[in-house]
Amino acid sequence: MKMKKKSRWVNVIKEHCPGLEVSSEAAVLESHGCDWTRFRKPAPSAVVFPHTVEEVSQLVVVAAENQIPLVPSGGRTGLSGGAIADAGEVVVSFDRMRKILDFNGVDRTLTVEPGVVTQVVQEYASQQNLYYPVSFAAEGSSQIGGNIATNAGGIRVLRYGLTRDWVVGLKIIDGRGELLECNGGLVKNASGYDFRHLFIGSEGTLGFIVEATLRLTDPPLPSRVMLLAVTGLEAMMDIFQQFNSALILTAFEFLTDAAMGYVRRGQDLPAPMGTEAPLYAVLEFECADAASEDLGLRCFEHCLEQGSVLDGVISQSEAQAADLWRYREGISEAITPFTPYKNDLSVRISAVPAYLHDLDQLAKSQYPDFEVLWYGHIGDGNLHMNILKPENMTVEDFEEACGRVNPAVFELTRTHRGSISAEHGIGLLKQRYLSYSRSEADIERMRGIKAVFDPFNIMNPGKLLS
Ligand code: MLT
Ligand code: ZN
Repeated sequence: MKMKKKSRWVNVIKEHCPGLEVSSEAAVLESHGCDWTRFRKPAPSAVVFPHTVEEVSQLVVVAAENQIPLVPSGGRTGLSGGAIADAGEVVVSFDRMRKILDFNGVDRTLTVEPGVVTQVVQEYASQQNLYYPVSFAAEGSSQIGGNIATNAGGIRVLRYGLTRDWVVGLKIIDGRGELLECNGGLVKNASGYDFRHLFIGSEGTLGFIVEATLRLTDPPLPSRVMLLAVTGLEAMMDIFQQFNSALILTAFEFLTDAAMGYVRRGQDLPAPMGTEAPLYAVLEFECADAASEDLGLRCFEHCLEQGSVLDGVISQSEAQAADLWRYREGISEAITPFTPYKNDLSVRISAVPAYLHDLDQLAKSQYPDFEVLWYGHIGDGNLHMNILKPENMTVEDFEEACGRVNPAVFELTRTHRGSISAEHGIGLLKQRYLSYSRSEADIERMRGIKAVFDPFNIMNPGKLLS
Protein backbone atom coordinates (compact mmCIF):
# COMPACT_ATOMS: atom_id res chain seq x y z
CA MET A 1 0.00 0.00 0.00
CA LYS A 2 2.78 2.36 1.03
CA MET A 3 4.85 1.64 -2.09
CA LYS A 4 1.80 2.19 -4.26
CA LYS A 5 1.31 5.59 -2.70
CA LYS A 6 4.94 6.50 -3.32
CA SER A 7 4.93 5.48 -6.95
CA ARG A 8 1.76 7.52 -7.31
CA TRP A 9 3.73 10.57 -6.17
CA VAL A 10 5.98 10.35 -9.22
CA ASN A 11 3.00 10.07 -11.54
CA VAL A 12 1.30 13.04 -9.89
CA ILE A 13 4.44 15.14 -10.37
CA LYS A 14 4.84 14.05 -13.99
CA GLU A 15 1.20 14.86 -14.68
CA HIS A 16 1.09 18.27 -13.00
CA CYS A 17 4.62 19.48 -13.79
CA PRO A 18 4.81 18.46 -17.46
CA GLY A 19 8.10 20.20 -18.38
CA LEU A 20 10.00 19.12 -15.27
CA GLU A 21 12.99 16.81 -15.73
CA VAL A 22 12.32 13.68 -13.67
CA SER A 23 14.60 10.70 -13.25
CA SER A 24 13.81 7.30 -11.73
CA GLU A 25 17.03 5.69 -12.97
CA ALA A 26 18.53 3.47 -10.30
CA ALA A 27 21.99 5.09 -10.50
CA VAL A 28 20.52 8.59 -10.14
CA LEU A 29 18.33 7.54 -7.19
CA GLU A 30 21.42 6.06 -5.56
CA SER A 31 23.71 9.04 -6.20
CA HIS A 32 21.21 11.82 -5.46
CA GLY A 33 19.41 10.17 -2.53
CA CYS A 34 22.22 10.73 -0.05
CA ASP A 35 25.11 12.92 1.01
CA TRP A 36 28.61 11.92 2.19
CA THR A 37 27.23 10.09 5.24
CA ARG A 38 27.14 6.32 4.86
CA PHE A 39 24.70 5.42 7.64
CA ARG A 40 21.46 5.28 5.61
CA LYS A 41 20.60 3.66 2.31
CA PRO A 42 19.23 6.07 -0.30
CA ALA A 43 15.69 5.17 -1.39
CA PRO A 44 13.98 8.15 -3.08
CA SER A 45 11.02 7.59 -5.44
CA ALA A 46 12.44 10.02 -7.98
CA VAL A 47 14.91 12.82 -8.50
CA VAL A 48 13.66 15.99 -10.15
CA PHE A 49 15.90 18.60 -11.77
CA PRO A 50 14.15 21.98 -12.00
CA HIS A 51 15.73 24.51 -14.37
CA THR A 52 13.87 27.61 -13.15
CA VAL A 53 12.36 29.22 -10.06
CA GLU A 54 8.91 28.76 -11.61
CA GLU A 55 9.49 25.02 -11.91
CA VAL A 56 10.47 24.80 -8.24
CA SER A 57 7.38 26.75 -7.24
CA GLN A 58 5.03 24.65 -9.35
CA LEU A 59 6.57 21.44 -7.97
CA VAL A 60 6.10 22.59 -4.37
CA VAL A 61 2.47 23.58 -5.01
CA VAL A 62 1.81 20.09 -6.38
CA ALA A 63 3.74 18.46 -3.52
CA ALA A 64 1.77 20.50 -0.96
CA GLU A 65 -1.56 19.50 -2.50
CA ASN A 66 -0.58 15.84 -2.52
CA GLN A 67 1.49 15.62 0.68
CA ILE A 68 4.63 14.61 -1.21
CA PRO A 69 7.81 14.96 0.91
CA LEU A 70 10.64 16.79 -0.87
CA VAL A 71 14.37 16.56 -0.06
CA PRO A 72 16.63 19.35 -1.41
CA SER A 73 19.92 18.21 -2.87
CA GLY A 74 23.00 20.29 -3.69
CA GLY A 75 26.59 19.04 -3.96
CA ARG A 76 25.72 16.25 -1.47
CA THR A 77 28.84 16.85 0.60
CA GLY A 78 26.90 17.12 3.89
CA LEU A 79 27.96 15.05 6.87
CA SER A 80 24.77 14.87 8.96
CA GLY A 81 22.37 13.24 6.52
CA GLY A 82 20.50 16.48 5.76
CA ALA A 83 20.16 15.46 2.08
CA ILE A 84 19.31 11.79 2.64
CA ALA A 85 16.08 10.49 1.10
CA ASP A 86 15.62 7.01 2.55
CA ALA A 87 11.82 6.78 2.68
CA GLY A 88 10.59 7.28 -0.86
CA GLU A 89 10.79 11.08 -0.84
CA VAL A 90 11.23 13.06 -4.05
CA VAL A 91 14.71 14.59 -4.27
CA VAL A 92 14.92 18.12 -5.67
CA SER A 93 18.35 18.52 -7.22
CA PHE A 94 19.67 22.00 -8.02
CA ASP A 95 22.22 20.65 -10.50
CA ARG A 96 20.48 22.43 -13.41
CA MET A 97 20.34 25.81 -11.66
CA ARG A 98 24.01 26.76 -11.93
CA LYS A 99 23.93 30.22 -13.47
CA ILE A 100 25.77 33.28 -12.21
CA LEU A 101 22.99 35.83 -12.60
CA ASP A 102 24.59 39.14 -11.80
CA PHE A 103 27.76 40.83 -10.58
CA ASN A 104 27.50 44.33 -9.18
CA GLY A 105 30.87 46.05 -8.80
CA VAL A 106 29.47 49.02 -6.90
CA ASP A 107 27.59 46.90 -4.38
CA ARG A 108 30.33 44.24 -4.53
CA THR A 109 27.73 41.50 -4.74
CA LEU A 110 27.31 38.35 -6.77
CA THR A 111 23.87 36.90 -7.43
CA VAL A 112 23.78 33.20 -8.21
CA GLU A 113 21.47 30.26 -8.64
CA PRO A 114 21.64 27.70 -5.80
CA GLY A 115 23.48 25.00 -7.76
CA VAL A 116 26.60 27.11 -8.36
CA VAL A 117 29.62 25.35 -6.89
CA THR A 118 31.36 27.19 -4.02
CA GLN A 119 34.71 27.22 -5.81
CA VAL A 120 33.10 28.79 -8.90
CA VAL A 121 31.92 31.65 -6.66
CA GLN A 122 35.43 32.02 -5.23
CA GLU A 123 37.00 32.02 -8.70
CA TYR A 124 34.46 34.46 -10.13
CA ALA A 125 35.10 36.83 -7.21
CA SER A 126 38.83 36.63 -7.72
CA GLN A 127 38.44 37.41 -11.47
CA GLN A 128 36.78 40.66 -10.34
CA ASN A 129 39.73 41.28 -8.00
CA LEU A 130 37.45 40.55 -5.04
CA TYR A 131 37.16 37.71 -2.55
CA TYR A 132 34.55 35.27 -1.30
CA PRO A 133 36.19 34.02 1.88
CA VAL A 134 34.16 30.97 2.94
CA SER A 135 36.47 28.03 2.30
CA PHE A 136 36.55 24.33 3.19
CA ALA A 137 37.79 21.03 1.81
CA ALA A 138 34.55 20.19 -0.07
CA GLU A 139 34.38 23.57 -1.88
CA GLY A 140 35.17 21.95 -5.25
CA SER A 141 31.82 20.14 -5.28
CA SER A 142 29.58 21.71 -2.62
CA GLN A 143 26.90 24.07 -3.91
CA ILE A 144 26.13 27.53 -2.60
CA GLY A 145 22.48 26.64 -1.81
CA GLY A 146 23.66 23.82 0.45
CA ASN A 147 26.29 26.08 2.04
CA ILE A 148 23.58 28.57 2.94
CA ALA A 149 21.12 25.91 4.09
CA THR A 150 23.74 24.60 6.54
CA ASN A 151 25.47 27.93 7.28
CA ALA A 152 28.79 26.36 6.24
CA GLY A 153 31.89 27.34 8.20
CA GLY A 154 35.29 25.95 7.25
CA ILE A 155 38.85 27.05 7.88
CA ARG A 156 38.72 30.87 7.86
CA VAL A 157 35.84 31.47 10.25
CA LEU A 158 38.03 33.13 12.86
CA ARG A 159 38.93 35.87 10.37
CA TYR A 160 35.87 36.05 8.11
CA GLY A 161 32.93 34.45 9.88
CA LEU A 162 30.42 31.92 8.54
CA THR A 163 28.36 31.76 5.33
CA ARG A 164 25.64 33.73 7.17
CA ASP A 165 27.92 36.76 7.24
CA TRP A 166 28.17 36.83 3.43
CA VAL A 167 24.54 36.45 2.39
CA VAL A 168 22.85 39.77 1.65
CA GLY A 169 19.86 38.51 -0.26
CA LEU A 170 17.86 35.32 -0.71
CA LYS A 171 14.96 34.18 -2.82
CA ILE A 172 13.09 31.26 -1.34
CA ILE A 173 10.24 29.02 -2.39
CA ASP A 174 8.44 28.17 0.82
CA GLY A 175 6.31 25.11 1.64
CA ARG A 176 3.27 26.64 -0.08
CA GLY A 177 5.19 27.20 -3.29
CA GLU A 178 5.28 30.97 -2.69
CA LEU A 179 8.29 33.12 -3.53
CA LEU A 180 9.84 35.11 -0.69
CA GLU A 181 12.40 37.82 -1.37
CA CYS A 182 14.61 38.41 1.64
CA ASN A 183 16.66 41.58 2.08
CA GLY A 184 17.38 42.16 -1.65
CA GLY A 185 21.11 42.81 -1.23
CA LEU A 186 20.71 45.72 1.19
CA VAL A 187 23.49 46.56 3.63
CA LYS A 188 21.10 48.22 6.06
CA ASN A 189 17.52 47.16 6.49
CA ALA A 190 15.75 47.77 9.77
CA SER A 191 12.27 46.93 8.55
CA GLY A 192 11.47 44.16 10.98
CA TYR A 193 12.15 40.43 11.18
CA ASP A 194 14.92 39.40 8.80
CA PHE A 195 13.62 36.10 7.38
CA ARG A 196 16.91 35.63 5.54
CA HIS A 197 18.55 34.51 8.77
CA LEU A 198 15.82 31.96 9.47
CA PHE A 199 16.50 30.25 6.15
CA ILE A 200 20.27 30.29 6.61
CA GLY A 201 21.06 27.12 8.57
CA SER A 202 17.49 25.79 8.32
CA GLU A 203 18.67 22.72 6.36
CA GLY A 204 15.90 23.06 3.77
CA THR A 205 13.16 22.53 6.36
CA LEU A 206 11.46 25.91 5.83
CA GLY A 207 11.88 26.45 2.11
CA PHE A 208 14.24 25.97 -0.82
CA ILE A 209 16.82 28.60 -1.76
CA VAL A 210 16.37 29.47 -5.44
CA GLU A 211 18.66 32.50 -5.63
CA ALA A 212 21.32 34.02 -3.40
CA THR A 213 23.10 37.36 -3.39
CA LEU A 214 26.53 37.14 -1.79
CA ARG A 215 28.70 39.91 -0.47
CA LEU A 216 32.31 40.01 -1.67
CA THR A 217 35.25 41.76 -0.05
CA ASP A 218 38.78 42.98 -0.76
CA PRO A 219 41.22 40.33 -1.89
CA PRO A 220 43.18 39.00 1.08
CA LEU A 221 46.70 40.17 1.84
CA PRO A 222 49.47 37.71 1.07
CA SER A 223 49.73 35.10 3.79
CA ARG A 224 52.07 32.51 5.25
CA VAL A 225 51.11 29.04 6.42
CA MET A 226 52.95 27.31 9.28
CA LEU A 227 52.72 23.70 10.31
CA LEU A 228 53.92 23.25 13.89
CA ALA A 229 54.70 20.16 15.94
CA VAL A 230 53.02 20.83 19.29
CA THR A 231 53.63 19.17 22.66
CA GLY A 232 50.05 19.10 23.97
CA LEU A 233 46.71 20.75 24.29
CA GLU A 234 47.60 23.46 26.79
CA ALA A 235 50.58 24.27 24.59
CA MET A 236 48.27 24.45 21.55
CA MET A 237 46.11 27.12 23.17
CA ASP A 238 49.20 29.08 24.30
CA ILE A 239 50.48 29.06 20.74
CA PHE A 240 47.08 30.22 19.50
CA GLN A 241 47.13 33.11 21.95
CA GLN A 242 50.70 34.11 21.08
CA PHE A 243 50.06 34.22 17.35
CA ASN A 244 46.57 35.67 17.67
CA SER A 245 47.73 38.64 19.70
CA ALA A 246 50.79 39.39 17.53
CA LEU A 247 49.42 38.79 14.03
CA ILE A 248 46.20 38.68 12.03
CA LEU A 249 45.40 35.01 11.94
CA THR A 250 43.23 33.82 9.07
CA ALA A 251 43.13 30.19 10.26
CA PHE A 252 44.23 28.15 13.23
CA GLU A 253 43.59 24.42 12.87
CA PHE A 254 44.78 21.32 14.65
CA LEU A 255 45.15 17.59 14.10
CA THR A 256 46.41 14.75 16.23
CA ASP A 257 49.38 12.55 15.31
CA ALA A 258 46.94 9.73 14.49
CA ALA A 259 45.08 12.02 12.06
CA MET A 260 48.47 12.98 10.59
CA GLY A 261 49.18 9.28 10.02
CA TYR A 262 45.89 8.76 8.18
CA VAL A 263 46.24 11.83 5.98
CA ARG A 264 49.81 10.96 5.08
CA ARG A 265 48.91 7.39 4.14
CA GLY A 266 45.63 8.35 2.42
CA GLN A 267 47.08 11.23 0.40
CA ASP A 268 50.58 9.80 0.03
CA LEU A 269 52.23 12.79 1.72
CA PRO A 270 55.82 12.89 3.01
CA ALA A 271 56.57 13.67 6.67
CA PRO A 272 56.18 17.46 6.92
CA MET A 273 59.29 17.74 9.14
CA GLY A 274 61.82 15.58 10.94
CA THR A 275 60.08 15.77 14.33
CA GLU A 276 56.98 13.91 15.45
CA ALA A 277 54.59 15.29 18.06
CA PRO A 278 51.28 14.38 19.71
CA LEU A 279 49.55 17.33 18.01
CA TYR A 280 50.07 19.55 15.01
CA ALA A 281 48.82 23.08 14.35
CA VAL A 282 48.23 24.47 10.87
CA LEU A 283 48.01 28.23 11.05
CA GLU A 284 47.79 30.96 8.48
CA PHE A 285 48.49 34.64 9.03
CA GLU A 286 48.37 37.79 6.94
CA CYS A 287 51.84 38.75 5.88
CA ALA A 288 51.89 41.93 3.83
CA ASP A 289 55.58 42.70 4.43
CA ALA A 290 58.86 41.43 5.84
CA ALA A 291 57.95 42.85 9.27
CA SER A 292 54.92 40.54 9.57
CA GLU A 293 57.02 37.58 8.51
CA ASP A 294 59.63 38.47 11.16
CA LEU A 295 56.90 38.75 13.75
CA GLY A 296 55.61 35.30 12.78
CA LEU A 297 59.10 33.85 13.07
CA ARG A 298 59.64 35.55 16.42
CA CYS A 299 56.37 34.03 17.73
CA PHE A 300 57.56 30.65 16.50
CA GLU A 301 60.96 31.03 18.23
CA HIS A 302 59.29 32.16 21.44
CA CYS A 303 57.07 29.05 21.39
CA LEU A 304 60.15 26.89 20.74
CA GLU A 305 61.94 28.43 23.73
CA GLN A 306 58.87 27.96 25.91
CA GLY A 307 58.75 24.31 24.87
CA SER A 308 55.22 24.41 23.45
CA VAL A 309 56.50 23.85 19.90
CA LEU A 310 59.05 21.19 18.98
CA ASP A 311 59.55 22.01 15.32
CA GLY A 312 57.83 23.72 12.41
CA VAL A 313 57.79 24.64 8.76
CA ILE A 314 56.66 27.86 7.07
CA SER A 315 55.52 28.33 3.48
CA GLN A 316 57.58 30.51 1.16
CA SER A 317 55.22 30.39 -1.81
CA GLU A 318 51.56 29.80 -2.61
CA ALA A 319 52.41 26.29 -3.79
CA GLN A 320 54.10 25.49 -0.48
CA ALA A 321 51.14 26.95 1.41
CA ALA A 322 48.78 24.68 -0.55
CA ASP A 323 51.04 21.69 0.21
CA LEU A 324 50.93 22.43 3.94
CA TRP A 325 47.15 22.79 3.88
CA ARG A 326 46.87 19.27 2.48
CA TYR A 327 47.88 17.84 5.88
CA ARG A 328 44.74 19.35 7.36
CA GLU A 329 42.31 19.54 4.45
CA GLY A 330 43.03 16.03 3.21
CA ILE A 331 42.02 14.27 6.43
CA SER A 332 38.30 13.97 5.77
CA GLU A 333 38.83 12.28 2.41
CA ALA A 334 41.63 10.09 3.76
CA ILE A 335 39.44 8.61 6.50
CA THR A 336 36.28 8.19 4.38
CA PRO A 337 37.09 4.50 3.63
CA PHE A 338 36.88 3.87 7.41
CA THR A 339 33.21 4.99 7.57
CA PRO A 340 33.88 7.57 10.30
CA TYR A 341 31.12 8.36 12.76
CA LYS A 342 31.37 12.12 13.08
CA ASN A 343 30.62 14.35 16.00
CA ASP A 344 31.05 18.01 15.12
CA LEU A 345 31.27 19.84 18.43
CA SER A 346 31.92 23.38 19.55
CA VAL A 347 32.57 25.31 22.73
CA ARG A 348 33.77 28.84 23.39
CA ILE A 349 37.43 29.14 22.41
CA SER A 350 38.51 29.68 26.00
CA ALA A 351 36.73 26.46 27.03
CA VAL A 352 38.53 24.29 24.44
CA PRO A 353 41.38 22.89 26.62
CA ALA A 354 39.16 21.75 29.52
CA TYR A 355 36.51 20.41 27.16
CA LEU A 356 38.88 18.51 24.90
CA HIS A 357 40.67 17.07 27.92
CA ASP A 358 37.38 15.76 29.37
CA LEU A 359 36.19 14.55 26.00
CA ASP A 360 39.39 12.68 25.29
CA GLN A 361 39.14 10.91 28.68
CA LEU A 362 35.54 10.02 27.92
CA ALA A 363 36.43 8.70 24.47
CA LYS A 364 39.24 6.56 25.93
CA SER A 365 36.96 5.02 28.54
CA GLN A 366 33.84 4.66 26.37
CA TYR A 367 35.36 3.69 23.05
CA PRO A 368 38.26 1.47 24.16
CA ASP A 369 37.99 -0.70 21.06
CA PHE A 370 37.59 2.10 18.53
CA GLU A 371 40.11 4.47 17.07
CA VAL A 372 39.10 8.07 17.71
CA LEU A 373 40.65 10.81 15.61
CA TRP A 374 40.58 14.50 16.44
CA TYR A 375 41.06 17.47 14.20
CA GLY A 376 39.30 20.73 13.57
CA HIS A 377 39.03 24.44 13.68
CA ILE A 378 40.43 24.91 17.17
CA GLY A 379 40.82 28.67 16.64
CA ASP A 380 37.03 29.05 16.54
CA GLY A 381 36.22 26.37 19.14
CA ASN A 382 35.09 23.67 16.66
CA LEU A 383 36.39 20.13 17.22
CA HIS A 384 35.76 17.20 14.88
CA MET A 385 35.62 13.87 16.72
CA ASN A 386 35.82 10.97 14.26
CA ILE A 387 35.32 7.39 15.38
CA LEU A 388 36.58 4.89 12.82
CA LYS A 389 34.62 1.73 12.07
CA PRO A 390 36.52 -1.49 12.76
CA GLU A 391 36.77 -3.51 9.56
CA ASN A 392 34.89 -6.52 10.94
CA MET A 393 31.86 -4.56 12.22
CA THR A 394 28.68 -3.87 10.26
CA VAL A 395 27.71 -0.23 9.67
CA GLU A 396 24.48 -0.82 11.66
CA ASP A 397 26.28 -2.26 14.71
CA PHE A 398 28.88 0.49 14.53
CA GLU A 399 26.29 3.27 14.42
CA GLU A 400 24.45 1.71 17.35
CA ALA A 401 27.67 1.44 19.38
CA CYS A 402 28.53 5.11 18.70
CA GLY A 403 24.95 6.09 19.48
CA ARG A 404 25.19 4.45 22.92
CA VAL A 405 28.04 6.79 23.88
CA ASN A 406 26.56 9.91 22.28
CA PRO A 407 24.45 10.89 25.31
CA ALA A 408 27.61 11.05 27.46
CA VAL A 409 29.47 13.06 24.78
CA PHE A 410 26.59 15.49 24.38
CA GLU A 411 25.97 15.77 28.12
CA LEU A 412 29.60 16.75 28.54
CA THR A 413 29.22 19.24 25.71
CA ARG A 414 26.19 20.71 27.48
CA THR A 415 28.19 20.94 30.73
CA HIS A 416 30.82 22.95 28.87
CA ARG A 417 28.03 25.06 27.36
CA GLY A 418 28.79 23.99 23.82
CA SER A 419 26.88 22.83 20.77
CA ILE A 420 26.40 19.29 19.41
CA SER A 421 26.70 20.65 15.87
CA ALA A 422 29.13 23.43 15.05
CA GLU A 423 29.00 23.46 11.25
CA HIS A 424 27.76 20.13 9.85
CA GLY A 425 24.12 20.63 10.85
CA ILE A 426 21.66 18.37 12.67
CA GLY A 427 20.19 16.65 9.60
CA LEU A 428 18.90 13.15 10.11
CA LEU A 429 21.73 11.74 12.18
CA LYS A 430 21.79 14.21 15.07
CA GLN A 431 18.12 15.10 15.21
CA ARG A 432 17.29 12.94 18.23
CA TYR A 433 20.04 14.69 20.21
CA LEU A 434 18.90 18.24 19.49
CA SER A 435 17.68 18.72 23.06
CA TYR A 436 21.30 18.59 24.30
CA SER A 437 21.84 21.96 22.63
CA ARG A 438 18.37 23.49 22.52
CA SER A 439 15.72 23.67 25.23
CA GLU A 440 12.33 22.01 24.75
CA ALA A 441 10.83 25.51 24.61
CA ASP A 442 13.24 26.44 21.80
CA ILE A 443 12.40 23.28 19.87
CA GLU A 444 8.70 24.11 20.22
CA ARG A 445 9.40 27.60 18.88
CA MET A 446 11.26 26.05 15.94
CA ARG A 447 8.23 23.87 15.23
CA GLY A 448 6.06 26.97 15.29
CA ILE A 449 8.34 28.69 12.76
CA LYS A 450 8.30 25.59 10.55
CA ALA A 451 4.50 25.55 10.62
CA VAL A 452 4.45 29.13 9.29
CA PHE A 453 6.70 28.47 6.29
CA ASP A 454 5.98 24.80 5.71
CA PRO A 455 2.40 24.17 6.92
CA PHE A 456 2.11 20.85 5.04
CA ASN A 457 5.41 19.48 6.39
CA ILE A 458 6.80 18.64 2.96
CA MET A 459 10.11 20.55 3.06
CA ASN A 460 12.83 18.09 4.07
CA PRO A 461 10.56 16.49 6.69
CA GLY A 462 12.20 14.55 9.49
CA LYS A 463 15.43 16.56 9.28
CA LEU A 464 16.52 18.88 12.07
CA LEU A 465 13.14 18.53 13.86
CA SER A 466 11.37 15.23 14.47
C1 MLT B 1 36.66 19.46 7.98
O1 MLT B 1 36.84 20.33 8.80
O2 MLT B 1 37.59 18.80 7.48
C2 MLT B 1 35.26 19.21 7.53
O3 MLT B 1 34.33 19.77 8.40
C3 MLT B 1 34.95 17.79 7.21
C4 MLT B 1 35.08 16.84 8.34
O4 MLT B 1 34.78 17.19 9.48
O5 MLT B 1 35.46 15.69 8.12
ZN1 ZN C 1 35.20 21.28 9.62
